[in-house]
Amino acid sequence: MMLGVCYYPEHWPESMWQQDAKEMQSLGLKYVRLAEFAWSKIEPVEGDYHWEWLDKAIDVLSACELSVILCTPTATPPKWLIDKYPSILPVDINTGTTRGFGSRRHYDFSSPDYHRESMRITREIAKRYANHPAVVGWQTDNELACHDTAHSGSEHAKAAFQKWLKKRYESIDALNRAWGTVFWSMEYQNFEQIELPILAVTETHPSHQLAYRRFSSDQVIRYHNDMITVLRECCPNQFVTHNFIPMVDTQTDNFALAKALDFVSYDNYPLGRTDLFFADADAEDFKRYMRTGHPDFSSCSFDHIRGISKAPFWIMEQQPGPVNWGHHNPRPLPGMVRFWSWEAVAHGAQTVCYFRWRQAAFAQEQMHAGIKRVDNSKSPAWYEAERFNDELLQSGMDLQAPVESEVAIVMSTENQWVCEIERQGDSYNQQRVEFEYYSALRQLGLNVDFIAADSDFSGYKLVVMPTLPIVPDGFVQRAKASDAHFVFGPRSGSKTEELTLAPNLAPGVLQALIAVKILSVETLRADCDEPLMLLHQNNQGKQFSSVCWREELEVASDVNVLAKYEDGSAAAASNEKASYIASLSDVAFLKTLFADLSRKLGLQTLELPKDVRLSKRGQFSILFNYSGTKQTILELSKAQFVLGSHELNPHDIAIFTS
Ligand code: GAL
Repeated sequence: MMLGVCYYPEHWPESMWQQDAKEMQSLGLKYVRLAEFAWSKIEPVEGDYHWEWLDKAIDVLSACELSVILCTPTATPPKWLIDKYPSILPVDINTGTTRGFGSRRHYDFSSPDYHRESMRITREIAKRYANHPAVVGWQTDNELACHDTAHSGSEHAKAAFQKWLKKRYESIDALNRAWGTVFWSMEYQNFEQIELPILAVTETHPSHQLAYRRFSSDQVIRYHNDMITVLRECCPNQFVTHNFIPMVDTQTDNFALAKALDFVSYDNYPLGRTDLFFADADAEDFKRYMRTGHPDFSSCSFDHIRGISKAPFWIMEQQPGPVNWGHHNPRPLPGMVRFWSWEAVAHGAQTVCYFRWRQAAFAQEQMHAGIKRVDNSKSPAWYEAERFNDELLQSGMDLQAPVESEVAIVMSTENQWVCEIERQGDSYNQQRVEFEYYSALRQLGLNVDFIAADSDFSGYKLVVMPTLPIVPDGFVQRAKASDAHFVFGPRSGSKTEELTLAPNLAPGVLQALIAVKILSVETLRADCDEPLMLLHQNNQGKQFSSVCWREELEVASDVNVLAKYEDGSAAAASNEKASYIASLSDVAFLKTLFADLSRKLGLQTLELPKDVRLSKRGQFSILFNYSGTKQTILELSKAQFVLGSHELNPHDIAIFTS
């Protein structure tokens, strides 16, 4: 049993709670998450705590053998608190105006008042339920730093930033030198002169921006770690987790944010996120996935999340039907809720909780589906969760089994920031670049881990850096010590720690792994692609497209040219240890290049139909057919299937043992 649900007893009359709990039990649910937005119900007036309703709700649920995950209610500071301490509110970095009360996440991570008040309410709720037998664990806050809240332009943030800078650089001369503030007369005489890099006439100094992002991320982490400390002090026997969302939405270093947790949780909204991520795709391409999600989108997030977790992760919120926050909000095709739940398990989840039990009758999310409709009838998600639960039991899947991979992609928040600060071309999008590298590997049926740049590389045959402008200390030594082949995408090794140019030209320190140099860089419009020739299999040329980012590559004589631009100059090169790709390309180029490399490195690939994916966990392999037509994988006709077969129905899955 490993399913759960997010429930808001405070939204419904108490007379409904018992029936709700019984139905949750009959659906086979085990966990119920409560109270992440309930501060005003818990403490309607300062110091006047109302626990009766929460006690009662927990008792009703536990009488039906449901276990509870409680949340610290800090994502929604109540009105009385904001009125008492108005400087809790964050300041918009694009306008300099205060972001008001009336939604959620209206707090500044640098506000000392909010820090104190958050720890106070955390301690109160933690003390109350530390020994409750039905409360098994805690979720901290809710989707920390979502809604662009990592950055605040407040006076509190400015003072804290100056302190942070002083600690990092120690002397103002060191900061001036590190950043190069002599450019445009930006030299400082003391730390108190340094403003936040916002609201200036034109672009602010990139090193200043990077420092501000590092600082802002540290503020979120400090707040979160302090909250975890309070929970650990009060509740040593309950787990602590947090519901993460992709890093691009939080601007926070998820590796660091996850460190003090027992395990990590993720909120999975495949359609909402596909809608935002592919907003600029052609209608034909977009329609293909608008009711299923893109075949690599959720799995990419799951693999990210697995990379920051120390144990199998949870899906704390799973989309059950249309959401309300995309540009448009399609209904998932029948079967997709079950399909996504399986996908999460295949990539390392041990629990799937659906968001939410019943569609809310009022307020901001009244158009967001639930497992039940507002009239209490069952929505399709009910039946899909039920089916998933049955299949899971039947399959014998071990939910503690690790997901193993011989291929890793290095992900780095810091490098995401660098590429956002300095895009150099409007069509350059670092998230898209990383996603396309991932997609190319997944189309070959390979499991992929996401790892931090300071990881140990042992156990991997292939380590891929879609882009790694700042190469951390020790990276080259660790790469040399490992048996893996390293693939670097454009921009890698091009910057120093302070976001200045690598003095020996890009790829900087990586020249110790592969003797190439970048002489110049150009970016082009996304629709101005040019030929890119991959020299594969006996140097036969195969033509693909070079897009958006092109580097002029100088290749030493002991390095092989792997791809060429139209004018015959080198576009990619490789030696035994590493490959350097100097251009962005179509995904087909990457797929062919990785297929060639896999053959060389002894990685087992499988030629899959366009919308079919394969994921392996423990002794099971799971096929996912994202397409609307039947797909046959002849190579697997002899495999031992425990669910489905090598002939996959539309939007269906199949499981076989390896
Ligand atoms: C999540 C959030 C939930 C709810 C949900 C709607 O990101 O954590 O509170 O708003 O989105 O899809």
